[in-house]
Amino acid sequence: MYVLGVSGSPVIDSNTDRIVKAIMAATGAENREFIKLSDVNVGPCRAHMKCVENNRCDIDDDFASISRKVLRADALILGTPTYYSAPSSFMKSFVERCYSFRHQRLMLKGKLCATVAVGSASESLVSEWLEKTMTFEGLEVVGAMTAKGTICCLNCGHGNDCPYPAWNTFSKERTGIEYGIKEAYTKYLEVLPDNVPYEKGAAVIKSTKRDAMMEAEVAKRAEALGKRLRTRHDEKMQRLVRV
Ligand SMILES: Cc1cc2nc3c(=O)[nH]c(=O)nc-3n(C[C@H](O)[C@H](O)[C@H](O)COP(=O)(O)O)c2cc1C
Repeated sequence: MYVLGVSGSPVIDSNTDRIVKAIMAATGAENREFIKLSDVNVGPCRAHMKCVENNRCDIDDDFASISRKVLRADALILGTPTYYSAPSSFMKSFVERCYSFRHQRLMLKGKLCATVAVGSASESLVSEWLEKTMTFEGLEVVGAMTAKGTICCLNCGHGNDCPYPAWNTFSKERTGIEYGIKEAYTKYLEVLPDNVPYEKGAAVIKSTKRDAMMEAEVAKRAEALGKRLRTRHDEKMQRLVRV
């Protein structure tokens, strides 16, 4: 089994990277490869539409070599951080370039996939987007997971008294929506009673980093996703042998 993990996080050893790698490890795949998109050069689609003729993108960057790995993979594990309630631009560009796999043939059809979206509040929007998009491309998405990562405001140096940190941006007082940010970060952050979102910040930051894989639920979900990919792969192989 060849598993390709792709991370859209530019942060070194990020939560996204570590969750993608944990899923990869749980597959027990003999062949595993991890690509960090911020370490390679994959730009956005330029809508040249040349790929319509031959399923090949004519942009001269690293996507040409990466596309060979994508086509070889039995399973893709795609992970992205949440930036402005969207995937990172690294992941968005990668997904746009997968447009070249459509047209003459739906080249990714039937490949297995698992997706990961890491954020502090609105990661479920990204998770839904990534899962749906991969399904549209013909992949079999066996599972999509989300995790809460390190909010940048925990370690920017101004989080204690900044009126505009993420926990205020996404607060129920401002948005009317419960994003679960205060509840998820109680070990890391205490928002004080005199905090007024976007007027006066007041918080005690207890920890500057959240290691998502240390959360038992996240580690369990990553392992389960990896195992599910393996099981589906083995089922497909057995069916092939029988036919
Ligand atoms: C430019 C930028 C924008 C962000 N916007 C959001 C956002 O809209 N919603 C959210 O939930 N988190 C947002 N975040 C927080 C990240 O999703 C969070 O830091 C996450 O842990 C990053 O994942 P990583 O540690 O794997 O890189 C933003 C972070 C950055 C740097």
